[in-house]
Formats: sequence, structure tokens, C-alpha cells
Amino acid sequence: MSVSFDFSGAAALVTGGSDGIGLAIARAFRAAGATVTITGTRAAAADYEQDLSGFAYQQLVATDPASVDAVATAMGPLDVLVNNAGTAIRAPEALTPEGFARNVEINLNAVYRLSHGLRPKLAERKGAIVNIASMTSYIASPRVPGYGASKTAIVSLTKTLATLYAEDGIRVNAIAPGWIETKLTVPVRGAEALNRPIIERTPMGRWGRPEEMAEPVLFLASPAAGFVTGVTMPVDGGYSAN
Ligand SMILES: NC(=O)c1ccc[n+]([C@@H]2O[C@H](COP(=O)([O-])OP(=O)(O)OC[C@H]3O[C@@H](n4cnc5c(N)ncnc54)[C@H](OP(=O)(O)O)[C@@H]3O)[C@@H](O)[C@H]2O)c1
Repeated sequence: MSVSFDFSGAAALVTGGSDGIGLAIARAFRAAGATVTITGTRAAAADYEQDLSGFAYQQLVATDPASVDAVATAMGPLDVLVNNAGTAIRAPEALTPEGFARNVEINLNAVYRLSHGLRPKLAERKGAIVNIASMTSYIASPRVPGYGASKTAIVSLTKTLATLYAEDGIRVNAIAPGWIETKLTVPVRGAEALNRPIIERTPMGRWGRPEEMAEPVLFLASPAAGFVTGVTMPVDGGYSAN
């Protein structure tokens, strides 16, 4: 049994496509025939160890509104926007108001700014937006308050943009990944006191892989989800059900 998506002729932008979940999503769109633009914080694709050939590349520094606007301006008509770029500001900065604000700037404000800037180009193609929420959208995040607040707000923003952009034929959905093996989660996987409760609460008993986030995103962006908008779909090995 297999499922495949055909994005031939489609243009997709995956923010934060230089690594982790975003790179896996970008590869899946490319494999499905799309022309894919990725973003990263570095000046050029060649600045990464990852093989990013086969993608168009734009620098995106989410704390800089001009950088976000420049990405929106650089794009042509767009079928898919995946708002994936994000990070967790960690201790000691995490608990300061400045750290909180910076995390919200990266994970939330930039998502709104880019979606707003690209709305006309998505409208031309009756495109789709897929946002990336988190388990921290639903549970407390005492170690990373700004991260948790931003990811909870992504669920709200997904519903709001779905409602707002429906008149343009743009669908807006999100996935909420469980605990996924990327560079973002190295500190968690490396600490047994944090790692063990995650494995114990996840009914499937393991961490997820970035590739396992890709097909659910392609589904939400595809005509197979043509009457689906405003939802956040957990992709979490059952973590949120337990
Ligand atoms: N891993 C998980 O368990 C998990 C769970 C739930 C949700 N998520 C979400 O999934 C998304 C991807 O995370 P990941 O785990 O794949 O992390 P990752 O491997 O660290 O990749 C993060 C991506 O976002 C980019 N990025 C980071 N800070 C940025 C900034 N200030 N401005 C613009 N781009 C920035 C990174 O660019 P550089 O490569 O240049 O740093 C990279 O492309 C994030 O939104 C994250 O919150 C992850």
C-alpha cells in the first residue's frame, strides 16, 4: 500500500527548510514534482553542510521584519507556504521578557508577517498554508515560556487565517508534531530526565523522524484536503492522546 502526491507545476516555499523537519518537508515536495524554495538564517545555501542543491534559497532572519518582507517580495505566484522556521530560546534567556519576546517574534510574528505578505500570491493560485504547531501548543512549557506561548498562538492563528483567507480560496491548516529527532531537540534527547518521560508518554514508544512530518503536510496542502481548513493535526505517535 502506498500514497503519493502530485505537485507537478506547483511552487512551494518552506521556511526553515535548511534543516530538520523543514528540510524533510522540502524534499518531499520536490519529490512530488514541486519547485521548492527554502529559507535558512545563513547568507547562502552553500553555507550549510546539508546538501541543499535542487532548491531555490532565500535568507530569512525572522527577527528582522525587512528580511521577512524581502522573502515575500522575492516569491512569484505561490501554491504552498509552509511556515516551519522556528526555534526555542533556552535558559537563561528563556525566562527573561526579552527572550520571551524574541521567541514570539520568530515563531509567531514572522509567521503572520510572511502569511500577510504572501496572501496575494497565494490567492492567485488558490493556494494553501501549513503551519507548524507543537505539543507545547497544548501543555505547559515552564522551561521555554515564549516557545510554548508562540506555539499555542499558532493554533489560534491557523483558525483565524483559515477564516480570513477563505474568501481568497486559500486554505490554512497546521500539524502539531510530537517529539521529533532534529537539532532543536538535541538538548532534550541528551538529558535522560527529560527523554524518559517523553518515551513513556508516547504510546508508539519512540521519537518521531523528520520524514514522518512531511506526508501529513503534503496531504494538508493537496486537493485531497480540499474541504479541510483551520485544523491543527497532531502527528505525534499518540503523545497528545495519552
Ligand atoms: N523537533 C521537534 O520535536 C519539534 C516539535 C514540534 C514542533 N517543532 C517545530 O518544527 C519546526 C522546525 O523545527 P526543527 O525541529 O526541524 O528545528 P531545526 O532542525 O533546528 O530547524 C529549524 C529551522 O528554522 C530555522 N530558523 C531557526 N531560527 C530562525 C530564525 N531566527 N529566523 C529564521 N529561521 C530560523 C533554522 O535555520 P538555520 O538552519 O539557519 O538555523 C532551520 O532551518 C519549528 O517551528 C519547531 O518549533 C519541532
